Amino acid sequence: MQDQAFTDEFRTQFDLLMRLRRDVRRFRTDAVDEAVLTRCLDAFQLAPSVGLSEPWRVIRVESPAARTAALKNFKAANDAALAGYSGDRAQLYSQLKLSGMQEAPVQLAVFCDDATDKGQGLGAGTMPEMRRYSVVSAVTLFWLALRAHGLGLGWVSILDPDRLARDLSVPGGWRLIGYFCVGWPEESSDTPELETLGWESRRGSLPVDVR
Ligand SMILES: Cc1cc2nc3c(=O)[nH]c(=O)nc-3n(C[C@H](O)[C@H](O)[C@H](O)COP(=O)(O)O)c2cc1C
Repeated sequence: MQDQAFTDEFRTQFDLLMRLRRDVRRFRTDAVDEAVLTRCLDAFQLAPSVGLSEPWRVIRVESPAARTAALKNFKAANDAALAGYSGDRAQLYSQLKLSGMQEAPVQLAVFCDDATDKGQGLGAGTMPEMRRYSVVSAVTLFWLALRAHGLGLGWVSILDPDRLARDLSVPGGWRLIGYFCVGWPEESSDTPELETLGWESRRGSLPVDVR
């Protein structure tokens, strides 16, 4: 394939894409076009992975029973998390919306197959967790691809991973990386919602040190 020279205009757009990516928890309920979703899911065929192990396993959570189980799981984990805070923090936590699971039209549970033979173990010998990092990198590409189409993704990690794996009947050896809500965002912003709501703010400086 011929080397593609990217333009200044593309670089400006790409920068904007990163700035407007956002974790989305507030979705409109209109459907997502299947062809667009499929195109964005291509990210999982294009992503880097340790030893080319491609350890990502994506489950589309569609049935009312599976969605209800996942939502129940989130609510229990979220209540437990709230109980871990006190005072003003607890008050603020209780006001956060930490998933769009009630309304997101598309929901995906993404796992890492820790037991895959693919890649013949290359690069994962000393650090097997590299397989999971590979899945995270694929999710990041998927996130950007969705945003480039105007769609949003919300990452939900406030879950009991073993319970979700059981409820979705996935093979043993698969580890939950995240539960992802996908749909049309209610709004666009260049600021993380947790910053807007006063929970945490971004570092203003580049996290680079020199030795
Ligand atoms: C690994 C990971 C897990 C996350 N889990 C949750 C979650 O359970 N609920 C939630 O509302 N946001 C979750 N987020 C989103 C973060 O809160 C969000 O990325 C951060 O506040 C920065 O906001 P931004 O993504 O809009 O830049 C998660 C993000 C990552 C990368």
